[in-house]
Amino acid sequence: MNNETNVTWHEHRVSREMREKKNGHKGCVIWFTGLSGSGKSTVANTLDHKLYQLGIQTVVLDGDNVRHGLNAGPGMLKGAHGEDFSSRFGLGFSAIDREENIRRIGAVAEIYTQTGVIALTAFISPYRIDRDRVRNTLKDGEFIEIFVDAPLEVCEERDPKGLYKKARAGELKGFTGIDDPYEEPESPELVLLAAEKTPDILADEVIEFLKDKAIINS
Ligand SMILES: Nc1ncnc2c1ncn2[C@@H]1O[C@H](COP(=O)(O)OP(=O)(O)OP(=O)(O)O)[C@@H](O)[C@H]1O
Ligand SMILES: [Mg+2]
Repeated sequence: MNNETNVTWHEHRVSREMREKKNGHKGCVIWFTGLSGSGKSTVANTLDHKLYQLGIQTVVLDGDNVRHGLNAGPGMLKGAHGEDFSSRFGLGFSAIDREENIRRIGAVAEIYTQTGVIALTAFISPYRIDRDRVRNTLKDGEFIEIFVDAPLEVCEERDPKGLYKKARAGELKGFTGIDDPYEEPESPELVLLAAEKTPDILADEVIEFLKDKAIINS
């Protein structure tokens, strides 16, 4: 039998403190949230590059990439013998699928945090309750919620993937900001004015925050 009661928790021999000491910085999750097209991926990758140059251990978890692997969707998930696993494990864009998508990403980001890595996540993550659930899996100060704040008009004008156009035409249902809600964070650690400043300046604002909180050295 392999039920929950038979799963034991292993104490790790290499402590988190040891890893953080070796890395020279703390582990945390930097959770970017905002409308599609607000600039989450752009800022996350700009920040990732800057942190890399500072010798900091990072990982980027980004929407589309994760939905090709860990959280593959309908038709994309096959068993070893070619069976369709999608109906059981695949994730689409319904409310519960979005919830499970964020839960899994949060669990992965939490593992990185435990190993002293700074995990940068770039998901619309439109529902407050889902983001708060991830926050609650981490200790105080480890979940840094960053609202990538750009007005819907600006995001729609950018529309690099043509998704807003499709949503407006009714070809894409349940699109955040159009016919599905985006719940702005109530008390994010940081708000980035993503329609007014360059990605470079925004990434520097995050670095200042990390220094201020002694997550990385100043
Ligand atoms: N600060 C900025 N100023 C001007 N343009 C920007 C800025 N940040 C991103 N962009 C541009 O806006 C577009 C959308 O950016 P990006 O793909 O990073 O958004 P996103 O929030 O990751 O969207 P999605 O949720 O769809 O993945 C891109 O064309 C990008 O070059
Ligand atoms: Mg993106």
